[in-house]
Amino acid sequence: MGIITIAIGYIIGSIPFAYIVTRLISGKDVRKFGSGNVGATNATRVMGLPYGLMVAGLDIFKGYIAVLLARFILPVETPYYFIILAGVAAIIGHNWSVFLKFTGGKGVATTCGVLLNLIPVIFLIYVLIWIVIVLSTRYVSLASILGGIALPFVTYYVNGNILNVILTAFLGILILYRHKGNIKRLLSGIENRMKWPPKIEG
Ligand code: G3P
Repeated sequence: MGIITIAIGYIIGSIPFAYIVTRLISGKDVRKFGSGNVGATNATRVMGLPYGLMVAGLDIFKGYIAVLLARFILPVETPYYFIILAGVAAIIGHNWSVFLKFTGGKGVATTCGVLLNLIPVIFLIYVLIWIVIVLSTRYVSLASILGGIALPFVTYYVNGNILNVILTAFLGILILYRHKGNIKRLLSGIENRMKWPPKIEG
């Protein structure tokens, strides 16, 4: 059963909402604009903030629902790590989507959806850190990266469950790994700064 909810999580996570919504609304391929990322930030560059927020909401929702379905389908005595793995599978699906030839996004919003279901307080802290850094620096990637680094430490101090600490350490590393290009651009001072209010750039 655990394998089934992991597979379902992966398929749900694979749904590339940034790609789908951008195609439907603007006819454009989000992968050919801005950072080329299949995510809410890049969708915002192509379609503006309202649709970017819609993509963020959908990506959060798929992480949340993957965990919710695992909770619903699996018998109550199933070990907690199987619930966790369904959420991780959704994030892996987002990053390496079966519908996009195993390419995809950076997993930040889907990570948020998984955390919202598993450890809501950590979701809130991550979002708070993220908002503060975006508003003060206008680097979305920096907010995602620093939030990712903080994740396991915050979880250790606020939640303390060892499985949750291992989970958030893994998710933090995954976020850093998917932001390799952003880290290089930040270090060389050429990272894309979000305009405020966000303007359509595509
Ligand atoms: O969640 C992705 C964000 O951290 C960076 O997006 O498009 O600037 O690489 P982007």
